[in-house]
Amino acid sequence: MITLTVNGQTRSLDIDADTPLLWVIRDELQLTGTKFGCGAGLCGACTVHLNGSPIRSCITPVSAVAGTEITTIEGLGTPDNPHPLQESWVENSVPQCGYCQSGQLMSAAALLATNPQPSDDDISMAMSGNICRCGTYPRIKAAIHLAAD
Ligand code: FES
Repeated sequence: MITLTVNGQTRSLDIDADTPLLWVIRDELQLTGTKFGCGAGLCGACTVHLNGSPIRSCITPVSAVAGTEITTIEGLGTPDNPHPLQESWVENSVPQCGYCQSGQLMSAAALLATNPQPSDDDISMAMSGNICRCGTYPRIKAAIHLAAD
């Protein structure tokens, strides 16, 4: 039995300790906002927060996060109370296909939590592990700056 807290809710799950956190989030908890891209820690689509820091859930065994606080895109904000980044994402019409965007938002939120006024270079560095095949990078950068204002 593994106990973990996701978006403030603590759950005990009877699950193999080696199961990647991504599949626990998606299949066991039915939180499908976190996406599977490469499955190898390379694209960032599966990014969630572990105690506030971004991690790749596809390469994180669930046993490694027992007793920690996990936040997924569903826990970042709500329609009634969106995270400032979610508002600036809408204002800048950031997504194209949208598939990578929850991972982008989670990395951006972790950046602003530790660096509320990031420079262009800070943003490039913090977001370098999040790949977008639609090339929405300029809009992502603009949205992060807008949310930081
Ligand atoms: Fe996890 Fe690509 S799906 S980094």
